[in-house]
Amino acid sequence: MPQVIAVTSEKGGVGKSTLSVHLAGAFAERGLSAVLIDEDGRVGSAIRWDRRGPSLPFPVLEPHDIKPKKLREADVVVIDTEGRPKRKELRTLGERADIILVPSSVSPLELEATAELMAFLHEDPQTRRRTRVVVNRVPPTGRAGEVAREDLREGGVNVCNTLVRSYAAYVRAAELGVLCRDVPDPRAALAWADIVTLSRELL
Ligand SMILES: Nc1ncnc2c1ncn2[C@@H]1O[C@H](COP(=O)(O)OP(=O)(O)OP(=O)(O)O)[C@@H](O)[C@H]1O
Ligand SMILES: [Mg+2]
Repeated sequence: MPQVIAVTSEKGGVGKSTLSVHLAGAFAERGLSAVLIDEDGRVGSAIRWDRRGPSLPFPVLEPHDIKPKKLREADVVVIDTEGRPKRKELRTLGERADIILVPSSVSPLELEATAELMAFLHEDPQTRRRTRVVVNRVPPTGRAGEVAREDLREGGVNVCNTLVRSYAAYVRAAELGVLCRDVPDPRAALAWADIVTLSRELL
């Protein structure tokens, strides 16, 4: 059975789709068979990302085109979800996923929303063990990322060591429908390195 990583958040626009697409890309580059499921029917940004570009190195599926047998053959399934999930949906996600990954920037508003979501996800001990925050859009200079990570940890939250920094290459990658490693940008390799490091920390 594949390892299932569901990416979710309390707030919208925190980088769920960006991280989902790139993590699936990093797993594929590492030789794993990766599948990305776009469960954000409302926006469908992973699906649109895939359609904009030449071709991503993994399939992007909508829930209705999933073939259970095919899915079982994958090594890793990444699920990009809609922001602000209902509590009931979160419970189901907690049961289906091996890892619940919650991106959060260092902004106080986002950290507050993340803390609220953590309070809910920590109610169930099994879900708590599966939940990880990843600090995303970290300013490449200064220590804001480290500070946010340590603050979250002090609050009892399981936080990834990897800080995903803020780079224009991610925005450009979405526009071009490719991975940031394929964007002509002097910092594209730095952006890609953050993702590969994160992927190794997760799996
Ligand atoms: N590490 C990053 N550095 C720079 N920009 C980023 C980074 N991560 C995400 N972004 C940008 O932030 C914006 C929101 O990202 P994204 O669409 O991935 O968020 P989302 O959580 O999926 O949003 P929604 O809730 O609408 O589905 C996009 O413009 C994206 O390019
Ligand atoms: Mg999204």
